[in-house]
Amino acid sequence: MSRVQERLGKDHAEIHTLLECLEQDVDAPGCGALATSWAALEERLLRHMRAEELYLLPLLEASHPTEVERTHAEHARIRELVDELGVAVELHTARKPAITELIELLKLHSAREDEALYSWAGDKASTAVQRSLFSALRGTLQTALSSAKPSLASSSRRRSDS
Ligand SMILES: [Fe+2]
Ligand SMILES: [Fe+2]
Repeated sequence: MSRVQERLGKDHAEIHTLLECLEQDVDAPGCGALATSWAALEERLLRHMRAEELYLLPLLEASHPTEVERTHAEHARIRELVDELGVAVELHTARKPAITELIELLKLHSAREDEALYSWAGDKASTAVQRSLFSALRGTLQTALSSAKPSLASSSRRRSDS
């Protein structure tokens, strides 16, 4: 197993643990736990997808264009659900079916990435790309870019969020 597969697979496992916490917290609204677990999940999930889009998918655009396109489309759908759920959590109207839908979608998406995408990308990622990818997963790259060059950081955020 490559370092890319190992590191991204670990990120998936941690995101799924956060999703399980969220699923439990939605059953006990009003104690504030839901907003906290939602904030942790949202930040982590968006950072994970941004890192994939910046460093992983460009490696595979030429060799696996259909898979890359499908991954972008799934990320767009995941972001829609995250936006909707974020509003619902804020308004205290979040319900279990919406969280279950996000969990099911993420399970399928991650399984596909674990099986194929990460293996292909692991073969192609240079040491420099791996270093940038791992920093982005930890959230340190964006912080470094923000302090060094705010315009560069915000343009990379806009690109990856669109
Ligand atoms: Fe993804
Ligand atoms: Fe992923």
